[in-house]
Amino acid sequence: MIEQTFQQIFDSPPEVVVRAPGRVNLIGEHTDYNDGFVLPAAIDRAITYAGRRRADRRVRIHSEDFQASTEFDLDDIQKDSERTWSNFLRGVSKFLEAEGHRLSGADIAFGGDVPREAGLSSSAAVEVGAAAFWNRLLGLGLDSIYVVKLARRAENEFVGVPCGIMDQFISALGRRDHALFLDCRDLTYRHVPLRAGVKIVVCNSGVKRALAQSEYEVRLKQCRAAVAKIAATGRAVKSLRDVELSDLDAVRGTMDGLLWRRAHHVVSENQRTLEAVKVLQAGDLERFGELMNQSHESLRDDYEVSSKELDQLVELARRQPGVLGARMTGAGFGGCTVNLVRADAAEGFAQAVSRGYQEALGLPAEIYVCQASDGALVAA
Ligand code: GLA
Repeated sequence: MIEQTFQQIFDSPPEVVVRAPGRVNLIGEHTDYNDGFVLPAAIDRAITYAGRRRADRRVRIHSEDFQASTEFDLDDIQKDSERTWSNFLRGVSKFLEAEGHRLSGADIAFGGDVPREAGLSSSAAVEVGAAAFWNRLLGLGLDSIYVVKLARRAENEFVGVPCGIMDQFISALGRRDHALFLDCRDLTYRHVPLRAGVKIVVCNSGVKRALAQSEYEVRLKQCRAAVAKIAATGRAVKSLRDVELSDLDAVRGTMDGLLWRRAHHVVSENQRTLEAVKVLQAGDLERFGELMNQSHESLRDDYEVSSKELDQLVELARRQPGVLGARMTGAGFGGCTVNLVRADAAEGFAQAVSRGYQEALGLPAEIYVCQASDGALVAA
C-alpha cells in the first residue's frame, strides 16, 4: 500500500491519495495521431500517488517501484537523466506552473502494478496521476480535457516521446465496465458499455518494446508523407482521417507501395473502429471479434508493427475455445495482445495460452484477466 510507504518515508500520513489506471486498446491502433478513432478501456492496474503539502517550494518524491527518492525545486524544474522515473512528475509540474497554476512544495510517494514498457501505458498513468494529484492536493479545479492535454504535453515536450492522445485520455476518463470511443480530431467521446459474459484478457509477451520509439516516429512521418502525396492529387485532406478507401484506390499508382500500405492500415482501421463501436452497442460480439482479428492482420502486414512473439500469442489465442477476437495492442514491437474471451472460458484460455507460448518460444507470458475501470478523474 502506497499510504504505508508514504508513512515510512515521510513519517506522517498522506493528505491525498490519487489513482490513475493503465489501459488496453480494444481497436483503433495507430490512428490517434492521424486524427482518427480509438476504443480503449482503462484497466484495473494503476499507478497511485500519495502526498502532502510542504510549506516551501521543494518537491520530494519517492518511487516505490524503483526503491529510490529524489527532489527538485518548483522554481527550477529540470529533466533528470538518471532518475528518469521522476521526469513525468517534473514535466507535469513544470507545465502547470508555466500555465499559471501556482503549486506548493510536496512530499510524494508513488508506485503501482501497471507493467512497464509492456504497452499498457504506464507512462500515461504516471503523468495523468501526477496532474490529478496536484489537482486534488491543491484544489486547482482543472478541467478534464485540460489535464489530458497537459499530461500528453509532458510526454511529448518534456519526456520527449511523440505519442498521440489516446493513452492519457483513457487513463483520465475511462469508466468502469465501459470502453471509451474517442474521436481524436475534436476529442468528443462516449462511453460504450462492455457486455457481461465476456472478459478482456491481456497477454504480455514479456518482450520490451525495444524498437517501439524509433519505429513509431518512422510511422508518424510515413503517415504525414502519405497525406502530402494524396493532397498533391488535388484532394482536400489534412490527415489520414479525411481519406476514404476509395481515395486510396484512386491514388495507388501515384504512391510508393510502402507508404500506400501504411495509409491503408490507418484508413481501414478507422473504418473498423467505427463499425466495432456499432456492433458492440448492438451486442454483436462475434463481429466485434472479427474486426479485432482484421486489425491484427492489418497491423502485421500493412503497418508492420507486430513481432514474432505477438503473432505467436495471437495465433495461440485463436485456437482456444471461447475466443471472439485476438490482436496486438498499443504501439507494437513487443508488449501485449488483447483478447475478447467468453467469461466461462477465460481461465482455461489463460492457462492454455501461457503453456503454448512457453512451448513454442520458451518464454513465459503473463496473463491478466482485466476489469474495465474508472479513470483518474472519474474515480472518487
Ligand atoms: C502508443 C501511443 C498512443 C498510440 C498507440 C498506438 O500507445 O502512446 O498515442 O499512438 O501507441 O495506437
